Formats: sequence, structure tokens, C-alpha cells
Amino acid sequence: MSQNRITALDGKRIVLGVTGSIAVYKAVDLASKLTQAGATVDVIMTDAAREFVTPLTFQAVTGRAVYTDMWAAPAGQGLPTHIAHVGLGEAADAIMIAPATADTLARLAQGRSDDLLSVTCLSARCPLVVAPAMDGGMYEHPATQANLEVLQSRGAYLIEPETGRFASGLTGRGRLPETPQLIGHLRLALGRDGELAGKHFLISAGATREALDPVRYVTNHSSGRQGHSIAQAALDRGARVTLVTMARDLATPVGAERVDVASARELLDAVTSRITASSPDALVMAAAVADYRPATAADQKIKKSDDPDAGMTIDLARNPDILMTVKALREEVGRPRVVVGFAAETNDLIKSAASKLERKGMDLIVANDVSAPDAGFRAETNRVILLDREGQQTEIDLTSKARIGEIVIDRVAALLDG
Ligand code: PMT
Repeated sequence: MSQNRITALDGKRIVLGVTGSIAVYKAVDLASKLTQAGATVDVIMTDAAREFVTPLTFQAVTGRAVYTDMWAAPAGQGLPTHIAHVGLGEAADAIMIAPATADTLARLAQGRSDDLLSVTCLSARCPLVVAPAMDGGMYEHPATQANLEVLQSRGAYLIEPETGRFASGLTGRGRLPETPQLIGHLRLALGRDGELAGKHFLISAGATREALDPVRYVTNHSSGRQGHSIAQAALDRGARVTLVTMARDLATPVGAERVDVASARELLDAVTSRITASSPDALVMAAAVADYRPATAADQKIKKSDDPDAGMTIDLARNPDILMTVKALREEVGRPRVVVGFAAETNDLIKSAASKLERKGMDLIVANDVSAPDAGFRAETNRVILLDREGQQTEIDLTSKARIGEIVIDRVAALLDG
């Protein structure tokens, strides 16, 4: 699978409606990235959109003819019927209108059907995702807001525009989000009724930071990528996701509730408080948690000795074992129903992982050799062995952390079903 492929979009048919906003230039990148993700993208352009960008541009990035005229639609595009507006709607897994102008929103709210985009939306029954983009105060205008309420009341998925500078030089809310955000929202809309709909996942990611003084801290090499990938995989399947992360530089998968923490004790509080407060169905501890912290964190920056040969000794105190705490809590409150942990080892991988699985009361452990250069910490790829309580071992050869995330979530889904 090419590195840009996204399982949730691979093989999906997306109708991308493009309307007359300067933000059309972003829609070209969106069409390109959706195509690279493995989706079949059929673009419908309104007349106004063609004032900004030509159909050829979209055809170049999607590899498919572009629809611009309901009276002369291109044939031979693999639609289920030769009537284009019906065929486009019938075949689509989702219709995404990005950018969506105020006029288009009004027309959809009224159920108009006098151009190819509106008639396709009227005939389709698949999810409708709208990403409004407009200048000045148009987005805040009561008419636009009323039209959005009507569309949302019919189940449309709204991607709120961002606040920033408009082409006019004014600033306000109405800017089309960037492609990663748009794709994240589309994945959320596609997964809304997925197999994990109604399930709550609590996921940790990243490296703890244990303060030595206000300037320095003790940490490890975890980037948080594996944990964030697991969160994305759960979102793709419709789960509610709370992501407790130490990965300050990683984006939040669209739709996840993000909780930022730094130390092991903060992570412990965040995990245990959410288990008692919201009874998550599953906990996945992908975070790299320090077992020790500096016994005392100095209030001021520690100064080095004047003696150039003098070293420094740092006393370390033991951190709580979060999964052990969760084990006791689980016996008390019966939640999470499924607990997944990881084992980061440099030797004796299986033996150490099996011991942790048993000792920490997990249902599944994901063992990875973190001494390998192409797996474990920071890499985009990983190589893992899954061990479950029945002693079954599943070896996953080197693949993307996104794929590992999907495999782990699929196993959790099966455990939840069981
Ligand atoms: O973040 P990336 O750069 O993508 O790298 C991914 C990863 C290598 C960090 C990830 O795949 C991984 O292995 N995460 C677990 C790292 C770790 O702390 O493993 P461990 O063997 O030290 O701990 C075993 C399990 O107990 C882990 O689930 C850990 O979250 C948990 N733990 C550890 C210590 C502690 N005090 N409390 C815990 O609950």
C-alpha cells in the first residue's frame, strides 16, 4: 500500500462538489490527496467555481473527467446509471462540498435542483459533508446560519470554517480549513455509524517528561505516532476517543478529545479520573511511561559546580505503574472492559511481554523491539507481535504505524464483541 493510502478512504467513491470561492485552490489539493489516499474522486464544479480554476486542473489530479454540466455529463466513468446526477449520487460513499459558498448552502437548504451539484445532492442518500468558505460577515449572517441549521437537521456534517484573514483583507470566520483537517472530518463522517459507534476509547501516547528543574527534564524517545495512529483508527470506526498525549508536536486526530499531560503522575491522574468518570470501553496504553522521576524537582535552574571535574548525582524516585493501578481499579468498577498495553523491549521481547501481560492484567499486549532502527520509537513504521491472554501470538511484519493502529483496534473490537 503506498504510503499516502488511507484504509478508511481506499476504494471509497467521493463526489467532491466545488463552488465559487477563492478557496477553490485548496480543493485542488484536497482532490489530489483524496485520490492518493485511494479514493475515486468525481468532481462536480459549479459555473462560479470555473471562474477560479479550470476543470482540467481537477482532471489532472483525479485522473477522472470533471462534471460541469447537467445536460452534457461525461460518459464512461463507471457510474451505475447513465443519468449522471442519479449515478453520481447512487455510487457515492459521501458527497463533500468544499468550499461551499453561501449560495450553495441556500440552494441545498431549499432543495433546489437546477444545476448538477444541487440535483445530485437531492438524489443522493449518502452522507453530505459541507465545508463553508466565504468572505466578510457572510458566514455569521442569520440567513447562512439558518441554512446550515436546516442542512444539519437533515444529517449533513458541517466542517466549521476557520477564523483568519480573508482575500478581502478583512478577518473573521469563514476560511476553509487545510486539507488534513478536511480529510479528518471526512473520515469522521464516513465512520460515524461504524462498528465502534457508541464505544469510548481512552488512549495514551507519547513520552513522559519528568522535571529535574524548570529548564530540564528526563524523557524518552517516544514521538507519540503509534498512539495517535491508534486513536485515528478508532475514530475511523466510529468510536468516541479521548487521547491523553504527551506528544506536544503531533496534531490531534480530528474528532478526538485531546488531553495534554507531561509526567507519569499527570498521566495516571488523567487515565484513572476518566475511567471513574466516563467508564471507557477500552484503554490502550501506547504511551512510553517513565518508571522513575527525579526525586525532587528544583525550583530554580540547577547551577553546575565551579569544580570542572565535579560530577552530579541525581536521586530517582519510583513512578506509579499506571496499568497496575488500572488493574486494581478495573476489579473495583469493572471498566475498562478491554485493556491493551505495549511492551518496549531491547531483548527477551516475548518473555518480557508475556510477563507484563499477566502481571498488569492486560487483555492484549503489543510487543515491539525498540532497538530496531525501522521500528519502535519515532519511526513511521513498526514491527510488532500481539500476545493475548489465550497465549496466541500474532506477528505483524514491518508496516506503517497507521496499519498497526488498525490491527490493534480491530483486535480490541473483537475482544469487545467477545
Ligand atoms: O511513540 P512512538 O515514537 O510512535 O513509539 C511507539 C512506542 C515504541 C512508544 C510504543 O510502540 C510503545 O512500545 N509504547 C510503550 C512503551 C512503554 O512504556 O513500554 P514498557 O514496556 O516500558 O511498559 C509496558 C506497558 O506499561 C506500556 O503499555 C506502558 O504504557 C505501561 N506503563 C509503563 C510504565 C508505567 N510506570 N506505567 C505504565 O502503565
